[in-house]
Amino acid sequence: MEVIRVKDAVAGGKKAFELIKAGMDSGAKVLGLATGSTPETLYQDMVSSEIDFSDMTSVNLDEYVGLGGEDTQSYRYFMNDHLFNQKPFKETFVPNGKAEDLAAESKRYDQVIADHPIDIQVLGIGRNGHIGFNEPGTSFDATTHVVKLTESTIEANKRYFDKAEDVPTHALSMGIGSIMQSKKIILMAFGENKADAIKGMLEGPVTEDLPASVLQNHQDVIVIVDEDAASKL
Ligand code: F6R
Repeated sequence: MEVIRVKDAVAGGKKAFELIKAGMDSGAKVLGLATGSTPETLYQDMVSSEIDFSDMTSVNLDEYVGLGGEDTQSYRYFMNDHLFNQKPFKETFVPNGKAEDLAAESKRYDQVIADHPIDIQVLGIGRNGHIGFNEPGTSFDATTHVVKLTESTIEANKRYFDKAEDVPTHALSMGIGSIMQSKKIILMAFGENKADAIKGMLEGPVTEDLPASVLQNHQDVIVIVDEDAASKL
């Protein structure tokens, strides 16, 4: 994995944006996208750029079970709000958290990924090393599946909700097996609370206990870290 150290999240977003621009210049057509605070600076740069994304497709990593796109806490809403409303894409895919049959929705999403192979996957990382909502213990072979969120993830995500009880307990997530099929992966991490996960991912063993460590087995991963996230390397 190539590690790029930057000063802060603003510089990190710029770096990721440059890499995506270069990828698009070389023919990338499908972006795998993440939500959360980490990619916000990247999306700001994409929005304020002159680049036309109307020929691009996006496939998002995950969605909360029970939330629809009109719900302001949903990941579909986040993506529309931070990126797609300002920069229209040709097609955008996010798992349907309101699907009645979640097993069927998982299958449908796997087909979406198969039909739109991801050229560049953007990832954040959880404090416990999760990628997407693949929590510690998730099989490296997993495809799209329903996840019961861990206490630590609910705790980390409650900042977006009025009360911790409002944070959904389950999510639909692209699996690690699918993430690993992406041609190129850009993982960003900013802030001291990511330092342990980053150290484990880069320097520890490849283990399902730290899902992001699987990226050591991918041949094209760029890790963009700020000084705080890199502080334990
Ligand atoms: C979001 C996602 C998660 C986040 C991770 C970090 O779509 O898949 O894995 O990337 O939880 O979240 P932030 O960026 O809010 O620290």
